[in-house]
Amino acid sequence: MNHLIAPSILAADFANLQRDIEMINKSDADWVHVDVMDGMFVPNISFGFPVVAATKKHATKPLDVHLMIVDPDRYLKAFKDAGADGMTVHYEACPHLHRTIQAIKELGCRAGVALNPHTPVALLEDIIADLDMVLIMSVNPGFGGQKFIDNTYKKLNDLKQLSQKKNPGLLIEVDGGVGEHNVTKLLDAGANVLVAGNSVFSSANQLGAISNLKYPEKLLQL
Ligand code: DX5
Ligand code: ZN
Repeated sequence: MNHLIAPSILAADFANLQRDIEMINKSDADWVHVDVMDGMFVPNISFGFPVVAATKKHATKPLDVHLMIVDPDRYLKAFKDAGADGMTVHYEACPHLHRTIQAIKELGCRAGVALNPHTPVALLEDIIADLDMVLIMSVNPGFGGQKFIDNTYKKLNDLKQLSQKKNPGLLIEVDGGVGEHNVTKLLDAGANVLVAGNSVFSSANQLGAISNLKYPEKLLQL
């Protein structure tokens, strides 16, 4: 499949959120990545339902909502109502993961599970067939602009092998420290959805930065 690009609005200018979402609308991006943090599961608080709903109001592309929160079951319906098209919950935050995944699907959303850097892919063996997507965290969740962790390539390889056995249509998303310096290596390792925050929004040419992730074979000089 052609890979997908999901710019993360965590790195957007919140005082100009509509402008930044409109930039994504007219870009080569496929989704809008929306990072929700609760100050409990991760040591940072980002935003909640009103910002997700405001994003939905302007976005012409699906909202890929990444829930970095404890006990996400409490809020799945509220995030669906705010405009989520897909929801990704953390393996480490869900003691009844199978139930949580079924609940996301019953809401009509694409269902994903995220793994922190220390969580092995093998733990997904008995749930992977039920998933639409797995998100491999390539930084510790909580903040944008962190350094990419190299062990991610090995985890992407592990996940690709497991998905070939148990769920060949699986979306494999990588999130954290992604930019044009590692895009080709990530795609080769098996990623097919790339999240990018700072590498897009700190660029003087944001549309060009997104194009370079979508079409790395013809990298533009930005
Ligand atoms: C981190 C978030 C990421 C973040 C990525 O906890 O899940 O989506 O926005 O930011 P960059 O691309 O700047 O590493
Ligand atoms: Zn994210």
